[in-house]
Amino acid sequence: MGGPTIALVTGANKGIGYEIAAGLGALGWRIGVGARDRQRRDTAVAKLRAAGTDAFGVPLDVADDASVAAAAELVAEHAGGLDVLVNNAAITGGMPQTPSRVDPATVRVVVETNVIGVIRVTNAMLPMLRGSASPRVVNMSSSVGSLALQTTPDIDMGPVPAAYLASKTFLNAVTVQYAKELGDAGILVNSGCPGFTATDLNGFQGVRTPQQGAAIAIHLATLPDDGPTGGFFDDAGTVPW
Ligand SMILES: NC(=O)c1ccc[n+]([C@@H]2O[C@H](COP(=O)([O-])OP(=O)(O)OC[C@H]3O[C@@H](n4cnc5c(N)ncnc54)[C@H](OP(=O)(O)O)[C@@H]3O)[C@@H](O)[C@H]2O)c1
Repeated sequence: MGGPTIALVTGANKGIGYEIAAGLGALGWRIGVGARDRQRRDTAVAKLRAAGTDAFGVPLDVADDASVAAAAELVAEHAGGLDVLVNNAAITGGMPQTPSRVDPATVRVVVETNVIGVIRVTNAMLPMLRGSASPRVVNMSSSVGSLALQTTPDIDMGPVPAAYLASKTFLNAVTVQYAKELGDAGILVNSGCPGFTATDLNGFQGVRTPQQGAAIAIHLATLPDDGPTGGFFDDAGTVPW
């Protein structure tokens, strides 16, 4: 005990995930850089280390059982535990995704990554999180997954990406259920929305920088022990479900 806080960020090789890793690293935390591609992972780890972050690479494909199991073993061996898990990795599955035309195979792969991937990684890391003094799980969601916003007539949320949107709604439900189950264990589990951020995910159409997009995850990763759990937040506060 008494060592640095240890965090694992999935999809940390680029975009918002990279900036979450950098932001938590700047707090003096040891950061596991979860990424599936070896070269992209090594490049991100080298960049983080050059900036002073105590980063280590974690080979991780969130859609693959064996990869996730191996990642948990690596974190246990390399860091000896885990305090904070940021489930950031996600895909859109490509656009357009109008509900009447979306390929079921697209829905399947998006849910496999964005929802089942989160469950797979969280459950693999839970034994370590249970051993932490201040465990946190942050699920990177999106306001497009908010059914309340989607059904508010005056709010135009743009084209309807059926697979991606529903995956984030599903993820939010998963967040709530984990929070209920893990509350007694003191594990705070929340969903965060980064806002419309310029990354590969949207062809860099977003208006926020990845650093700005990372801020909500950093906030939720550093909540005090009496902080909220089972909530959905962005930089402005609570996002309606
Ligand atoms: N950008 C936005 O405007 C926006 C808005 C709302 C919510 N979000 C959410 O914010 C999070 C980060 O998005 P981003 O904009 O930073 O996207 P991004 O730049 O496309 O990055 C996505 C990351 O996820 C990784 N990833 C995808 N599938 C994976 C898998 N099976 N296993 C491991 N890693 C995988 C990617 O790795 P590779 O490099 O190997 O592909 C990449 O590192 C996502 O959850 C996204 O839904 C983003």
